[in-house]
Amino acid sequence: MNMLELRGVSKSYGKVLALRNVDLTVRAGELVSIVGPSGSGKSTLLQIAGTLDRPSSGTVRVAGYEISELSDGELSALRARYIGFVFQRFHLASGLSALDNVADGLLYSGLSRRQRRDRAAAALDQVGLGNRLDHRPHQLSGGQMQRVAVARAIASKPPLLLADEPTGNLDSAASAEVMSLFHRLNSTGVTVAIITHDPEVAAACPRRIRVRDGQVRAESA
Ligand SMILES: Nc1ncnc2c1ncn2[C@@H]1O[C@H](COP(=O)(O)OP(=O)(O)OP(=O)(O)O)[C@@H](O)[C@H]1O
Ligand SMILES: [Mg+2]
Repeated sequence: MNMLELRGVSKSYGKVLALRNVDLTVRAGELVSIVGPSGSGKSTLLQIAGTLDRPSSGTVRVAGYEISELSDGELSALRARYIGFVFQRFHLASGLSALDNVADGLLYSGLSRRQRRDRAAAALDQVGLGNRLDHRPHQLSGGQMQRVAVARAIASKPPLLLADEPTGNLDSAASAEVMSLFHRLNSTGVTVAIITHDPEVAAACPRRIRVRDGQVRAESA
């Protein structure tokens, strides 16, 4: 099954053509890295693949659903069910514990408060932070903060995880921790796409997608 399918996707921001006629297929269960120079269109590609933004032209399918056929409400529901996001800046709420940061990500899941907290605790346990539930972000290391962000992304058990430079703010040990987490999730069947500038992170992924000037230029296995 194709988890992601982009056909002839272009995206312009005013005069800037950020993506040009991109074709890309990611099958369920793949672990891919997305590499390329600054400004080449990687984040734009991830945002469009993640349905956070719509393309200027071309078609995007996520888990078989053509997103142009969905209303904004249906699109939010699709995103909530299928996609988890991890960003370079962790986007954690500073006043909230690790547990609440993860549980709040489930606010629109239809789960009860109790269920959200149980799910959040399980996700934090999965990323090795079962003993840090009550810590607020400033009481955690960078790698631990990023693992909270990963826990938040996976708490709803999405089949697709999209990460934009998830190790960009981490030292090499913390970066390795987060990467081994992605590998572990991938081995349980989660499809993972990671934008990275780090050659080691890219080399650790079975498939590499190279973006240049808004185009997918080359792929290496
Ligand atoms: N909201 C926006 N409005 C206008 N131009 C934008 C917008 N977002 C991105 N761009 C432009 O689109 C191009 C692609 O940007 P994008 O953020 O996708 O690059 P990137 O490959 O992720 O770069 P980096 O590695 O620096 O994060 C850039 O030239 C950028 O200036
Ligand atoms: Mg970017």
